[in-house]
Amino acid sequence: MTRLNKYLAECGLCSRREADKLIDQGRVYVNGQRAVSGMKVCDRDIVEVNHQRLQSAAASKVVLAYNKPVGITCTEKDRYAEKTIVFGEGKQNAKICMIGEAPGGDEEKQGRPFVGKAGKNLSSFLETIGLKREEIYITNVVKFRPTNVSPKTGNFVNRPPKKPEIDFFLPYLKKELEIIQPDMIVTLGNVPLKAVTGDDSASIGDMHGIMTTTKDGYKLFPLYPPAAIIYNRGLSEVY
Ligand code: URA
Repeated sequence: MTRLNKYLAECGLCSRREADKLIDQGRVYVNGQRAVSGMKVCDRDIVEVNHQRLQSAAASKVVLAYNKPVGITCTEKDRYAEKTIVFGEGKQNAKICMIGEAPGGDEEKQGRPFVGKAGKNLSSFLETIGLKREEIYITNVVKFRPTNVSPKTGNFVNRPPKKPEIDFFLPYLKKELEIIQPDMIVTLGNVPLKAVTGDDSASIGDMHGIMTTTKDGYKLFPLYPPAAIIYNRGLSEVY
């Protein structure tokens, strides 16, 4: 038996505190009854969040938050089965490969990287340096939209990708780079910077705009994520 808030947290839906909020708001049902805080559940119990059933929750330690509460399964094998995968796109032998963190809601809807507000910022940045989107290759470290459930609205909200998700997709990113063989990688933010350098202490604050070379021999030019400009207009000057 596990406490319900821990069970929901282990499903990767939210933190325990957020789970308590969901429970208090009456969004969680166990075996058809409104859940109460502090109650315990086991794997046989039918747990629903926002009227969607969770499956085999808490079965594994490797539990991550995915798009849909329905069909959340906790095994390594099928943990991405429910996700919309957003592949990289662009020119096959592009000289520049831009790498973001993970798709957001717009990207997930359209199945293409950088098509939302961040995509618009990226396109105008490309324009200022005389490049077209079609001339480069654009991808993300993590190929699906990492989400949490907002305890306020019950809607899915973006969250940064977790380490196991980054580690899972890293071999795919390496393969993409092997295929594209870009002259230069431009990382957009900390997640791709750490992924490409393999250095968890690498930081965009220290490395922004400084050309380096990765261990794999790619030229690397780290930039801020285009979305950063949305929240911090001052960055548009240095971007
Ligand atoms: N859109 C993407 O595709 N990737 C990001 O990192 C941000 C927005």
